[in-house]
Amino acid sequence: MKLPPGARFSTVCIHAGQTPDPATGAIITPIYQTSTYVQDALGQHKGYEYARTQNPTRGALEQNLAAIEGGAAAFAFASGMAAIDAITTLLTSGDHVVVTDNTYGGTFRLFDKVLRKYGLEFTYVDTSHPELVERAMRPATKMIFVETPTNPVMRLTDIEAVAAIARRSGARLVVDNTFASPALQRPIALGADIVVHSTTKYLNGHSDSVGGVVIVTRDEDVAGLGFIQNAAGAILSPFDSWLVLRGTKTLNVRMAQHNINGMALAEFLASHPKVTKVLYPGLPDHPQHALAKKQMRGFGGMLTFDAGTFEAARDVCNRIRLMALAESLGGVETLVCHPASMTHASVPLERRQAIGLTDSMVRISAGIEDPQDLIDDIRQALA
Ligand SMILES: Cc1ncc(COP(=O)(O)O)c(C=O)c1O
Repeated sequence: MKLPPGARFSTVCIHAGQTPDPATGAIITPIYQTSTYVQDALGQHKGYEYARTQNPTRGALEQNLAAIEGGAAAFAFASGMAAIDAITTLLTSGDHVVVTDNTYGGTFRLFDKVLRKYGLEFTYVDTSHPELVERAMRPATKMIFVETPTNPVMRLTDIEAVAAIARRSGARLVVDNTFASPALQRPIALGADIVVHSTTKYLNGHSDSVGGVVIVTRDEDVAGLGFIQNAAGAILSPFDSWLVLRGTKTLNVRMAQHNINGMALAEFLASHPKVTKVLYPGLPDHPQHALAKKQMRGFGGMLTFDAGTFEAARDVCNRIRLMALAESLGGVETLVCHPASMTHASVPLERRQAIGLTDSMVRISAGIEDPQDLIDDIRQALA
């Protein structure tokens, strides 16, 4: 079982970072549920000393994810937010960051309510217009933090264009690739320096683990992230590492069905008389459909629609039967949420208005069920 040079995406997903267990030949990396490792003699060990610092299950996942995103190294954390927090430790007090204005609410909360206290400055711009990013850059700008597509209004940022701005200014480009997954979008190949994921979503894919990962390209960031992972200690557990490692094996086939189901629901909703708007990058009327075709390999399973009024949106959420009303996304089962009162409740009203997030919007994370069953469910919920 040797990964051939030039192996293609799904082969990399299944095999990278994983060799049969040397002790038993077990084909699947075991869950090394241990806190410490016995050393042969003083100063002689097998590369493992203490499980916050090194764990073979986590190490296998990190190698797997580094290969999948095409980075130099990966570091797995206890949640997506812990991963984002770790990235910001590459900055120092006085540094400035340009951020997508429609970033995940938890990311905004971390930046605005926690990190500003330590002297970091953040400017929020609509990064779907690279000229606004350019205009927001300052001499102190050390990072551009982009989410694409955004949650829940599905705006896209041209990663190549923003990477060029970052390079010219000597700033790092960080892309939160949670919504697309590396099966659909590979930011490092487009010029990003760092990729972050909530592995809770598509990478794990089965709604049974919370985690995060940072994939880096620069030697200094390999050292910086490795240091903070051990120093602050917000590591991913061996069991969660094993779950995500199992998840990435089927990432490519899951994403293929998420693409099909996302498109089927988007087309059905776009033709429904009670729906006033559908936000899905796969629809030709999406303002960045051309960019989605260029930058992504498929349009994914995330879509948002406008039910016209808050009452209509509430009724859809309360009437779905097969789909589940729940926060989170990226699992095999279809989830529905009301962003204004659920995932984005921590975003102030004026900011929600500025990004076009209204109370009448409903977000769907299309799972991988039969698409006709999903259409039947949303049809009866809208009836
Ligand atoms: C785009 C995005 N980034 C980061 C996060 C945070 O991840 P976690 O919930 O695993 O901490 C989320 C969570 O929903 C998200 O949607």
